[in-house]
Amino acid sequence: MAALPDVVPMPGLPEAVTIYEVGPRDGLQAEKAIVDTPTKIEFIRRLRETGLTAIEATSFVSPRWVPQLADAAEVLAGIGEHEGVRHPVLVPNQRGMDRALAAAATEIAIFVSATERFARENLATTVDGAIELAVPVVDRARQAGIGVRGYVSMCFGDPWEGRVPIAQVVDVVRRLADLGVGTISLGDTIGVATPGHVRALLAALDEAGIGMDRIALHFHDTYGGALANVLSGLQSGVTEYDAAAGGLGGCPFARSATGNLATEDLVWMLTGLGVRTGVDLDRLLAISTWMAGRLGRPAPSRVVQALAAS
Ligand code: HMG
Ligand code: MG
Repeated sequence: MAALPDVVPMPGLPEAVTIYEVGPRDGLQAEKAIVDTPTKIEFIRRLRETGLTAIEATSFVSPRWVPQLADAAEVLAGIGEHEGVRHPVLVPNQRGMDRALAAAATEIAIFVSATERFARENLATTVDGAIELAVPVVDRARQAGIGVRGYVSMCFGDPWEGRVPIAQVVDVVRRLADLGVGTISLGDTIGVATPGHVRALLAALDEAGIGMDRIALHFHDTYGGALANVLSGLQSGVTEYDAAAGGLGGCPFARSATGNLATEDLVWMLTGLGVRTGVDLDRLLAISTWMAGRLGRPAPSRVVQALAAS
C-alpha cells in the first residue's frame, strides 16, 4: 500500500473534481519509438480500473504528423466500451471525423490555438482557420449525438510569440463556447503558467460570462508549477483537471513542451486537501511503473519516484 498524505482540508475548495486522463494520447504522442497497439490497449484497460472516469484514448490526426497514433482505430476497437468511463478522441478536421465515426467514437475533442504561430505549427493553419476546421466537425458530432470537448493551446505563453494577452485567450474561448462545445480545456502547452496568471485568466473568463463549470485546466509541468496552478484553479472553482499517468508527454510541435502534470502528483495533492477524485493511487502507481518499464525510462512523476523509493 502506498503511503498517503494526511488529509488537512483548505477552506473554499470544491469537494470533488474530475481527473481527465490524457496519458494514452498527450502522453504517448511525442514518444519517438512506436509503442505497439496491444500495449496501448492494455494501458487504457488498466487505467480504467483505477476509478478514472475520463480517459482520452487516442487521436484521429494525420499519421504523417503523429505517426505514434496512426493505430487510433485499432486502439479504439481494442478497448471497447466500459461502464462509467468516457473515451474521447482528438479530431482535427473532417477527415479525422470520418475516421472517428467509422471507429464508433462516442466523444471527441477538437483543438485550436490562442496564438497564430502555434496554429500554424500544430494544424498548418491560422487561429481563425482552426476554428473554421472545427465548425463542421462540431456540427457532425451534434448530428451523431456525441459530446465535444474543446482545447485551446498556448493560453499562458507561446515559445515563439512569448506573452499571450489574456484578452486574446478569452476571445478564442468565447468562440469555442459559441460553437456549442462542452467543456473547454485551457492548455498551458509549454508549462509557463503561474498561479496569479491562472487566477487572472479565470476571472477574465468569468467576467466574459464563461462559467467555471465549462472550464478544465491542462497543465504541463515544465517549470514545476503545475500543482501550484491546480491549487489556483481550485480556489477559482474549476473542477476538471487534465493529467497523464506517470507524467508522460509533451507536444511534438512545441519547442520546450515537456511532460503533462502527473496524475499521481495530482491525486496526492488532492487527497491531502480532502478533495475527492475517486482514483486509486496504488493501482495508478503500478500502471506507471509498468509503462515506465515498457518505455525504458523512469516515470517523471515525483510521487511515483518518491513512493517507489519508500
Ligand atoms: P496538412 O498537412 O495541412 O493536411 O495538416 P492536409 O489536409 O494537406 O493533408 C495531408 C495528408 O494527411 C493527406 O494525405 C491527408 O489525407 C492526410 P496524403 O493525401 O498526403 O496521403 N490527413 C489525414 N489523415 C488521417 N487523419 C486525418 C487527416 N487529415 C489529413 N485527420 C492537419 C493539417 C490538421 C491534418 C495536421 O496539421 C494535423 O494532423 N495536426 C495534428 C497535430 C497534433 O496531433 N498535435 C498534437 C495534438 S494538440 C496538443 O497536443 C495540445 C493539447 O494537448 C493541449 C495543450 O497542451 O495545449 C491538446
Ligand atoms: Mg497537452
